[in-house]
Amino acid sequence: MHEIFTKRRSVRHYQKKGVEEEKLKEILKAAMSGPSGHNSRIWEFVVVGDHKTKEKLAESGPWADFVKEAPVVIVIVGDEKKSKLWLEDCSIAAGYIYLEAAN
Ligand SMILES: Cc1cc2nc3c(=O)[nH]c(=O)nc-3n(C[C@H](O)[C@H](O)[C@H](O)COP(=O)(O)O)c2cc1C
Repeated sequence: MHEIFTKRRSVRHYQKKGVEEEKLKEILKAAMSGPSGHNSRIWEFVVVGDHKTKEKLAESGPWADFVKEAPVVIVIVGDEKKSKLWLEDCSIAAGYIYLEAAN
């Protein structure tokens, strides 16, 4: 486990190949295995492969341009009407995604 923590890095350049469905499933399973406030599990995960949508996502922030080059993007969605702790829950899910992806 310690090895995975130290192996994780922010990656902004990608190989021109897809991500195997099995690996994506493992990543999503990890995302959903984390804790959530009141065990509300309000997050949703949208797996985006469509180039036009990725281009839109790349415009979502000033430092997200590389997103459009990623083979697959996982968008974590939280609903503030469903839980006051949506941001915390989604952030934890993001951490789990990073670690399983590094794994
Ligand atoms: C809350 C948060 C927001 C971040 N936003 C961006 C971002 O918009 N663009 C980007 O390229 N990296 C972003 N990063 C990644 C950090 O720049 C990166 O984690 C840091 O430079 C350390 O590098 P490492 O992740 O390879 O250890 C973000 C990280 C966190 C925790």
